[in-house]
Amino acid sequence: MAKETNQPAPQAGFQALISHCKEYGYIFQSSEIYDGLQAVYDYGQYGAQLKKNIRDYWWKSMTQLHDNIVGIDAAIFMHPTTWKASGHVDNFSDPMIDNKDSNKRYRVDHLIEAHAETLQEPAAGTLIAEMEALIARDDYAGLKNLIDSNNIKCAVSGTCNWTDVRQFNLMFSTEFGAVATEGEEDNKVYLRPETAQGIFVNFLNVQKTGRMKIPFGIAQTGKAFRNEIVARQFIFRMREFEQMEMQFFVRPGTQMEWYRYWKEQRRAWHESLGVPAEKLRFHDHVKLAHYADAALDIEFEFPFGWKELEGIHSRTDFDLKNHQEYSKKKMQYFDNDLNEEDKPYGNYIPYVVETSVGLDRLVLTILSLAYAEEKWNREDGSEDSRVVLRIPPRIAPLKLAVLPLTKKDGLPEIADALIKECKGDFHCFYEEKDSIGKRYRRMDAIGTPFCVTIDHQTKEDNTVTIRYRDTMVQERIPMADVRRLINEKIG
Ligand code: GAP
Repeated sequence: MAKETNQPAPQAGFQALISHCKEYGYIFQSSEIYDGLQAVYDYGQYGAQLKKNIRDYWWKSMTQLHDNIVGIDAAIFMHPTTWKASGHVDNFSDPMIDNKDSNKRYRVDHLIEAHAETLQEPAAGTLIAEMEALIARDDYAGLKNLIDSNNIKCAVSGTCNWTDVRQFNLMFSTEFGAVATEGEEDNKVYLRPETAQGIFVNFLNVQKTGRMKIPFGIAQTGKAFRNEIVARQFIFRMREFEQMEMQFFVRPGTQMEWYRYWKEQRRAWHESLGVPAEKLRFHDHVKLAHYADAALDIEFEFPFGWKELEGIHSRTDFDLKNHQEYSKKKMQYFDNDLNEEDKPYGNYIPYVVETSVGLDRLVLTILSLAYAEEKWNREDGSEDSRVVLRIPPRIAPLKLAVLPLTKKDGLPEIADALIKECKGDFHCFYEEKDSIGKRYRRMDAIGTPFCVTIDHQTKEDNTVTIRYRDTMVQERIPMADVRRLINEKIG
């Protein structure tokens, strides 16, 4: 059977992927019955399981496979001073511009990038380089000039009637307690824009109770919230999303060594998850965030271009030092393991190297790699096709579908017994409706890597047909081997 993968053009393929995610229970627009809420999404039965499998894989690799990394689960709400100390109240903003005719607001970098995509090289590259230089200098007048001189238009009004470039803070806030008094700042709390601060404020709690020795890490997964102005590209940029972050506490002066170490570790981790090396690249930051002395993105080639998947940041002692200053509580570590001559400097605020990856972006990475439309000719010359999600078996939401050939003759009971045997180890699915061919196609579309068919021969010799999603190869094996074989394949 000559099988040909027919990958549609990237943008068309992306729209097809979004529809597929909805049709097969992966991702829905939030509050869809009320026409949705922009940049907020709900995960359906398969999406939630895929997301959990990726989260578990990350959690295990951080906290189980590293002896010196432990995990915590801090609250989303934090004392408001946290965000003063972290710099988010003053600095967590993006340059924005409004179009006076449409009243539409744009992030300046997105507006210019979208325009650059319509240009040929080298003009596109020059425009992006100019923009990056201006952003690095916080030169808002220069950015406005760049927009004007390139005649960049609003996609809604089609005009160049722009306001000045201004900064907008991205944090969401709400009121704490029963009564919200207008203009009363005391009640104001923020929805965390990153999970990292929950780790910093617990640094000494964990270090002391866990008797952790530097270098060590604290990992956490959880929701974060940002009032993204231009929220687009499906689950790539959301207003409510999930992060998986790890803060690695090191001796001052050793941070660049650890920065290089985590850069390579994290790249290797993505590859171990099934992301091909040629779809990943590093991008060093030109403009550093307010807390960093070095920073890079691990970028993935999404269907809409190369974009940030994970950030690696050398955060110095910025966060701990500021929490010490604002809280008046010591954030120091006593390093017993220093050489004799360094002992007088044994009390210090550690430096931090952070790895921070968006779980939703990882889900999108895996789904965009997995989605394929395939066509081939059958032996009789007629055409066949399928849509398949080639999700790595280890993280696929369903591992095994058990399909009795008919609804009678005791075949469903045998299928049921096989599911009972396997479901303690991995997720199984039972399906007796429709032809076997249709059921295989449905499982391909969901991304189930293995299907087992129970037929009349099973009753005679206890063998079943196992069918592999990726190759569509079928083979006859003893039913007693199914559980072990699948455990081996997903292990
Ligand atoms: N603690 C550092 C930090 O938050 P960041 O580069 O702003 O750094 C880290 O975010 C990661 O979080 C990004 O690489 C991305 O994967 C994810 N992320 C950030 N904003 C996001 C959004 N609006 N929607 C989805 N994921 C987002």
